[in-house]
Amino acid sequence: MLQLSKEETLALRDKHIGKSCQLFFRKDPLKIVRAKGQYMYDERGDAYLDCINNVAHVGHCHPKVVQAGCDQMTTLNTNNRFLHDNIVLCAKRITSTMPENLKVCFFVNSGSEANDLALRLAQTYTGNKDMIALEHAYHGHLTSLIDISHYKFNLPGGVGQKEHVHVASLPDSYRGKYRDTHYKKEEIGKLYANEIKEICEKIQKEKGNGICAFIAESLVSCGGQVIPPKDYFKEVYKHVRAAGGICIADEVQVGFGRIGKHWWAFQQYDVEPDIVTMGKSMGNGHPVACVVTTEEIADSFLRTGVEYFNTYGGNPVSCAIANAVFDAVEKENFREHALVVGEYLLDSCQILAKRHKCIGDVRGMGLFVGIDVVQDRLSRVPDNKCAQYVLQRMRDEHILISIDGPHSNIIKIKPPMVFTKENVDEVLTTLDRILKEYRHNTEIYTINSSRHKKTADISSNKEHRPRKQSKDKIKSI
Ligand SMILES: Cc1ncc(COP(=O)(O)O)c(C=O)c1O
Repeated sequence: MLQLSKEETLALRDKHIGKSCQLFFRKDPLKIVRAKGQYMYDERGDAYLDCINNVAHVGHCHPKVVQAGCDQMTTLNTNNRFLHDNIVLCAKRITSTMPENLKVCFFVNSGSEANDLALRLAQTYTGNKDMIALEHAYHGHLTSLIDISHYKFNLPGGVGQKEHVHVASLPDSYRGKYRDTHYKKEEIGKLYANEIKEICEKIQKEKGNGICAFIAESLVSCGGQVIPPKDYFKEVYKHVRAAGGICIADEVQVGFGRIGKHWWAFQQYDVEPDIVTMGKSMGNGHPVACVVTTEEIADSFLRTGVEYFNTYGGNPVSCAIANAVFDAVEKENFREHALVVGEYLLDSCQILAKRHKCIGDVRGMGLFVGIDVVQDRLSRVPDNKCAQYVLQRMRDEHILISIDGPHSNIIKIKPPMVFTKENVDEVLTTLDRILKEYRHNTEIYTINSSRHKKTADISSNKEHRPRKQSKDKIKSI
């Protein structure tokens, strides 16, 4: 195949790909040409440790997943109007990990399609339209989902809040409306859930309607790796159901065993959603996604007489791949691995927090971790400058992380599940060094500014350092 230089690729991209399709590291984007396990390689063969790709769930290009896809491609690929074993076996497998009532699957091709279909099911079943979603949530790029994704519609140039959409506070006990500094830990979940009750009452009073659905990620990713309080979903589900609505758990980012203890993050909260959506990790990079619901909700489509058809959803290749991902998670004990490595990661982050005052909070479950970067621990004012600096410098060190959250100050770590304790050590020793460097630069900056001298540039460190495998543990630095 034709090999383009990086400059040629960039030039063609600029010309033919929509400018709003943003690149990571826009000033000097990466051209990744292959990947394996938890590493991605650029056109020069340089390796990058991937801490952000929860899509490559069981590792980039997992050989058995790739083989399963290739084998099925050479045999048959067609739509699901023909009987085929792969789709039914995949559905059996997914539902075997769910509460008993969630036994019907609709296969789609992306997380967005899954959430859009979930909305349609909810509207058809309840006959209502009003939706409740969380502040700073993202549920997909389709028009119906931009409408309920505060993360998008609330941007300065966004479409704004539609009349049928209601936004509830992010249940963040660290920097949200109800914080652990002012409220007892055990009351925070109920306080946030009460907001949903009030929204339901308002809809009923003002519009005379019941509500359609409440949708939330079971752990909130774009909102900044937020772990909702233990009783939050139980309380919310109670209020939503009392108002005639149903509850949708978006597991697109956090499902498939990422949290270790359970297959699905909602299980951690001891609740039973009415609809669960999944995607991303399901195909390990191949587009396959699914909506799981109860027979009663699924059958509401029968009342309308509108059949559900999706040309690619649940095709034999996609389902062969999803089944192979399931096999890998089970046979290679990735859930246990996520628990062990995730705990090590959290512990190591806590040790780092003891050294760096800019780490305000460390939170996570399994291999889904967030580091909240602050200017000052007491006020918890977010420090997105520091987070940006870390992002860029980690990239110089060939470690890929991301930052997110309402203030863009949360360092997100959600790597492929093959991530090891050695990888944790490498990430955290590097982060330790970069945070020291940032503090040092900031001090110089402050001294220089106060003397009205030329200031040091702390926004980027141009020096490129090749990535070295660290042999240090964070405990021993
Ligand atoms: C929580 C969540 N739901 C849904 C989606 C949409 O998935 P997709 O990009 O596969 O359409 C995303 C994508 O990032 C997501 O993070």
